[in-house]
Amino acid sequence: MKENHLKKMSLTTETKKIFGIDLGTTNSAIALRTASSVPTLIQLGKKTTLPSCVMWENGQFIVGEEAYSKRYQSNVIYSVKRLMGSNKTITLVDGENSITLTPAEVSSHILKELCKRASVYYDDIKDVVITVPAYFNQKQIEDTLKAGELAGLTVHHILKEPTSAGYVYSNIDSAESGEQVIYDLGGGTFDVTHSVLIRKTPEVQKTINYLESYYDIKISTSDSDESDKYYSRVLGTYGDMHLGGDDIDTVLASILLSNEGLAKQDISEEDFEKLVLECEKFKKSGMIGFDFTIANKTFHMNQESLKSATRVVYDKTLAIMQPLLSNIKSNNIKSIILVGGSTKSKYIREWLAAEFPMATVVCSLNPDETVAQGAASVGFDIAGGVPFKFQDVLPLAIGVLVDETTVSTCLPTNTSIPYSTSKLYTTLYDNQQVLEVKLYQGLSSNPNDCTFLGTIRIENLPQAPKGELDIIIDFILAVNGRLRVQATIGDLTKDIEIENIFSVKNTTLQKDTFKDTFLSLAMDTDNTKVIELFKKREEVFGEEREAIESEILMAL
Ligand SMILES: Nc1ncnc2c1ncn2[C@@H]1O[C@H](COP(=O)(O)OP(=O)(O)OP(=O)(O)O)[C@@H](O)[C@H]1O
Ligand SMILES: [Mg+2]
Repeated sequence: MKENHLKKMSLTTETKKIFGIDLGTTNSAIALRTASSVPTLIQLGKKTTLPSCVMWENGQFIVGEEAYSKRYQSNVIYSVKRLMGSNKTITLVDGENSITLTPAEVSSHILKELCKRASVYYDDIKDVVITVPAYFNQKQIEDTLKAGELAGLTVHHILKEPTSAGYVYSNIDSAESGEQVIYDLGGGTFDVTHSVLIRKTPEVQKTINYLESYYDIKISTSDSDESDKYYSRVLGTYGDMHLGGDDIDTVLASILLSNEGLAKQDISEEDFEKLVLECEKFKKSGMIGFDFTIANKTFHMNQESLKSATRVVYDKTLAIMQPLLSNIKSNNIKSIILVGGSTKSKYIREWLAAEFPMATVVCSLNPDETVAQGAASVGFDIAGGVPFKFQDVLPLAIGVLVDETTVSTCLPTNTSIPYSTSKLYTTLYDNQQVLEVKLYQGLSSNPNDCTFLGTIRIENLPQAPKGELDIIIDFILAVNGRLRVQATIGDLTKDIEIENIFSVKNTTLQKDTFKDTFLSLAMDTDNTKVIELFKKREEVFGEEREAIESEILMAL
């Protein structure tokens, strides 16, 4: 029976396809890696990208190009990614009828449409890796997972967009060892990641020694497999969730209005949206000039106005990059990897080349496609059981509220993932039954400037006089970017699913009997496979955990 099971497992591993999805603010894409090291985007009709716009008409959802062309209508939602993780809802109005949706629900329609269109080529799209901006907080990550779940998908990994693009380039043999800046300017978000790629050459140790002393970090290559061609690690990530190519279009529209002596409020909202749409078309066309008439007024678009609008957004990206620029020696940067549709702008390329004079501007792959390709690469690795070789960081610190006024950091900004840390708590009253800890994420110690993630609530504490109960709370950041919290009191351990960002499944402290029973068995017999599986089990919840538990049982 054991043999049969293993046979089935290896067969599944061989045949399982894990697709990579770039769930973008403006455009989404899906890719698959088969044999070639560079994954392929799947055709979605005429193009390989799908506008992330959802229209609700006659009770049906229409996703993509048609919705995009009518995005000024009240029954269309676009840029929903900007609302992920918020409590906002979206009401779409179609004549007399209306529907209210959460951002995760809207996103699930985009995912469903992607899979539906790609199903022309593949009939088994169930397993996916989805990318998110590096600057997404845990709530936004959870919302993305929820969107996947609502679309009926199994999300194996949530991958950061710049990391994803970096991963694709790492797999290309021509990628140079050294420090990289991954500049990702899409439609609605900006992320910049500073990373290091080390190829295994005789020179490698020199580079490692230098980087370790310059950044005061430890880079280990010993744990990676000898057959690996490279080692890569993210050193820092910065970004803005509300900055992208969409802003260039809006700024350009405002410039054009002001050239005509008008302000935004002088034309209707719908006309302004139409003007913004034309600005985007002009921006992408590469034309020298273009005249457009709207509301009986003619607007003159030209490259000079476009350059000014682009500069406004570019300057904002530079300001965001400031902490990174002050930390790095810009002469050390070997490559600037361009990601996101907005990096097709010749102005942005020019300005970046001037900012990093010693670096090569890398854009050999289509910047619209690299994020989905990276996700497909990771999917391919997961399906083949290959460990992920790109070590990532936590972009926004996570902390707990103390004295109701201050956020005390548990997981600092740019902590390397995976990571775990513990905090010790005790009770303030005799026989206290409940302990509540509020969790925040952000760059400030002021809770008002951070995102409230949720409350860790531990109920049914054992009876004890005040101050005599030691409650250890472990914060575990798994490789897939998911945060797990675990509380231990004596020999009682509990996985806490934080209220608000996770659904609460079990509020009573309980023994981890599975671990207690089987881990010691594996230790006694020195069963390394099972010990490794136990490590994996620590990083996942729910069904994924149950699957690993059955694997453990079979391997014992
Ligand atoms: N040739 C071009 N020149 C300038 N900008 C362009 C060009 N082509 C596309 N863009 C812009 O790229 C943006 C879309 O990029 P992309 O598809 O990478 O974004 P996204 O993945 O949807 O967004 P995000 O990564 O922010 O979630 C749009 O603002 C679009 O106008
Ligand atoms: Mg993108």
